[in-house]
Amino acid sequence: MSGLADRFGTPLYVYSAATLREHVSRLSTAFAPLAPKVCYAVKANGNLHLLKLLASLGCGMDVVSIGELERAFVAGVPLDRIVFAGVGKGEHEIRAALSSAHSSLQGWAHPSEAGFAARLAARGAVSCFNAESEQELELIAKVAEELGVPARAALRINPDVDAYTHAYTTTGKADNKFGVTIDRAIALFDRFGARSRTGPHLRLDGLHVHLGSPIYTTRPYVDAIQKLLVLEGELRARGHEIRSLDIGGGFAADYETGKTPAYDVYAAAIVPLLMPLVQRGVRIVMEPGRTIVANAGVLLTRVRYTKHNGGKHFVICDAGMNALIRPALYEAFHFMWPAKVTPELTPPARRSDLDMPGLNPVDVVGPICESGDFLAQDRRLPRIDPGDVIGVFGAGAYGMSMASNYNDQPLPAEVLVDGDRAMVVRERQTIADLLGAEMGTAGR
Ligand SMILES: Cc1ncc(COP(=O)(O)O)c(C=O)c1O
Repeated sequence: MSGLADRFGTPLYVYSAATLREHVSRLSTAFAPLAPKVCYAVKANGNLHLLKLLASLGCGMDVVSIGELERAFVAGVPLDRIVFAGVGKGEHEIRAALSSAHSSLQGWAHPSEAGFAARLAARGAVSCFNAESEQELELIAKVAEELGVPARAALRINPDVDAYTHAYTTTGKADNKFGVTIDRAIALFDRFGARSRTGPHLRLDGLHVHLGSPIYTTRPYVDAIQKLLVLEGELRARGHEIRSLDIGGGFAADYETGKTPAYDVYAAAIVPLLMPLVQRGVRIVMEPGRTIVANAGVLLTRVRYTKHNGGKHFVICDAGMNALIRPALYEAFHFMWPAKVTPELTPPARRSDLDMPGLNPVDVVGPICESGDFLAQDRRLPRIDPGDVIGVFGAGAYGMSMASNYNDQPLPAEVLVDGDRAMVVRERQTIADLLGAEMGTAGR
């Protein structure tokens, strides 16, 4: 790790191509009986090179903005492998997802793909909108009619199921802003489903649910899917056709060794519930993000200073909440360890309760002017000195994608390691990049 830090500087996100491949393969094997369409959640980590790799493994993409959609398309993902979720899609976003004539990439010169303009012109419409409200369905229908193109939608159901995760990342409870209740769903299918009178432009024929993240047990999935199956039966009885059922994302990542169910465990609970639908020709869609990419990424940060204050020992690093906000925002645990330690201080596992001789409690903090700017608090770690490199594990998901320029900190660089090759997949942002948008030079 310190070799990469020396070579590429810090803060630095380092991703493993082998781990990404392994996760996709294991997930696909576990859920093979359902032959699901696996749409990787771009929000977890949207680096173009990672998306390209995931697309080459057969993944489609789940996007929540037109920015993510264009990013996935640039990475080579056809629109018929993209589902467009998001609670607040704008009209311009719906337009561009249905017709490339409205894409902001029109006229953009792709630096390395000569045929990009032709690919863009021919891209067609997104495979499915995961719609979250009646007004959104009305807008999709209106835009599709104006453009003269057919649109497909699935309805995001709010099943009122607790995912037992952080309040900020729970999305399937009745008082969350996401989706519509089961009662409302029936009315919306009656209006926009197969028997509707809204014209040929919008076809509502899918169900979608996403409960939150990370979800460490199978119970929430079972509860939500059982509710969806009842709803599906009711809709069918009313003459509506359901062609797809999307179970969202949320599978946990191995932030602590052994705490996360294996894919087989999730599959053992979910596959039998959905098999009858698959046998009737319903397409199952999954939107995993975190579970694919979290443990494929490490954040490397270099220690600038150490000091004692008020009975605490602080390790002050060059990365903080600007580079990785999860500890500050969600009180999330990330295992971390100095890159160079003596053999007896090699950690036996990634655990929050490690107890070995030679560890002392420290707060690992960043350079940002907030007391909430920490990567770990009261964490028992080996001795750390200025200049040391610390590896922050499980940082591949919601790390770089949530990084910010707060305090005018440039974004970290990203490196993808594939075999013995380490490739810069995102250059470190510069101060000039930061100033560009305010001086009319951005994008040049
Ligand atoms: C609709 C939807 N699908 C999928 C995901 C991905 O979740 P995860 O990264 O936990 O798999 C999210 C995360 O917020 C989401 O909102």
